[in-house]
Amino acid sequence: MDSQDVHDDLEEVLYTADQIQARIGELAAEIDRDYADKDVLIVGVLKGAVMVMADLSRALSSHIAMDWMAVSSYGSGTKSSGVVRILKDLDADLMNRHVLIVEDIIDSGLTLSWLKANLQSRGPASVEICTLLRKPDAAKVPIDVKYIGYDIPNKFVVGYGLDFAEKYRNLDCIGILAPHVYE
Ligand code: XMP
Ligand code: MG
Repeated sequence: MDSQDVHDDLEEVLYTADQIQARIGELAAEIDRDYADKDVLIVGVLKGAVMVMADLSRALSSHIAMDWMAVSSYGSGTKSSGVVRILKDLDADLMNRHVLIVEDIIDSGLTLSWLKANLQSRGPASVEICTLLRKPDAAKVPIDVKYIGYDIPNKFVVGYGLDFAEKYRNLDCIGILAPHVYE
């Protein structure tokens, strides 16, 4: 599949690669300012957050450490249930650390609200959340998110780490998946 074919599967491009980089630069500046006098451990949630982690971490000028977690939500099809299983846990001990969870997207908020509580139980100094995308109309639980790239409509989006059946993660833009792809 060449890149022309991949873009044909998008109904609409929401954010181009340049727009995403600019927004991540703004988020990084906020994070640099807020953590100026603290060491931060940024925790990426696999696999969707790989691109955000790669670009956000390089846009930061603070000293950071990076770690990764993989979780899976039990639920029917693509809907998350809030019952979460850890597939890969952190290597780091969180005791007295400042933790920043980095996510690609918050949909219902169920996965992240579970994850935040789980990390908070490990004795960190603080736990905050940074997400590139959030779907406010899909929220099922209130969740305090300190850094948000964009609020988006309640549509299925792909690209820049986000997949449909493991495809489209490598797109440099974020777009709404065209219905002909999944219908
Ligand atoms: P919840 O509902 O618990 O789930 O906030 C968040 C996870 O669901 C996936 N997700 C998406 N993946 N395009 C995707 O490629 C989307 O529009 C989308 N909405 C939710 C994603 O894995 C996220 O971490
Ligand atoms: Mg994800």
